Amino acid sequence: MESSAPGKVILCGEHSVVYGQPAIAVPVTGLRCRARVEPAMPGSGLLLVAADLNQRTSLRNTAPEHPLGALARLVLEHLHCGEPDAVLTIHSDLPIAAGLGSGAAVSVAAARALAGFLGQPLSEEVVSALAYEVEKLHHGTPSGIDNTVIAWERPVFFVKGQAPEVLAISAPLRLLVADSGFPAATREAVTGVRQRRESDPDFYAARFSQIGALVKLARTALEQQDFAALGRLMDANHALLVEIGVSTPRLDTLVLAARKAGALGAKLTGSGMGGNILALVPMEGAPVVVEALYAAGAVHVWQTVTE
Ligand code: PMV
Repeated sequence: MESSAPGKVILCGEHSVVYGQPAIAVPVTGLRCRARVEPAMPGSGLLLVAADLNQRTSLRNTAPEHPLGALARLVLEHLHCGEPDAVLTIHSDLPIAAGLGSGAAVSVAAARALAGFLGQPLSEEVVSALAYEVEKLHHGTPSGIDNTVIAWERPVFFVKGQAPEVLAISAPLRLLVADSGFPAATREAVTGVRQRRESDPDFYAARFSQIGALVKLARTALEQQDFAALGRLMDANHALLVEIGVSTPRLDTLVLAARKAGALGAKLTGSGMGGNILALVPMEGAPVVVEALYAAGAVHVWQTVTE
């Protein structure tokens, strides 16, 4: 039984989404995590193999906070199934700690493959909810946007605690994701925002509601295929993310380089403090922006088209 799940990027609204504001995320379908479950010898139990990391461990030996072990336990509990004699193998194209949702992609792919192996396929809602439980192990108080967009594999308008709204995008959305070369530390970035917000609640409340307002405008721009407006909103979102203290000089340099080379808009994406920037590019403009991003120090640039 095989299953796969995409990566994701947050188009706008990261951080403020943790405090109840909306955010928009899109799947990155070209970068995937694949999970396979095969039968094993009777009595062997469930073996978990993270092939890219060279890790093998039996479910019985995993600590409660082991992400793949926790996910497998959640699936078995949900399905009221005992531990099967099987091997669950994960292969992933997704870089770890890059804000591309690798943790949620592993959970979603693994949950589907294991449930499929047990003959009880899961709905998107259930897969997303199970993956959310594992996200909590990764970074404490996640909004749930990663597991949602990855489980649905569609662009989503997301508000914490509410059913996601799937967005219809009628013209291809061309995005570049450029890796700054520094790992994004989601837990630290989210904790830092929380601490700074505690000492200056009004400043942060104002920034979060400005981001929420621009996310709503971004939704309209997307639905109307007004990519120039969407790009300007991404730029404005980056400026507000700078104000709440989650950008870095390296991320700012990449954002400026992308804009200068013709991107319609650019911003950091995900938690910031490292990780990636996202640039919206016009139909023919991508190669020039890719080149400019490498010249400005990006260690990797991915292109993704959302249709
Ligand atoms: O690094 P990522 O893409 O998993 O970013 C997390 C996005 C935040 O809004 C910063 C946190 C969250 O839980 O939504």
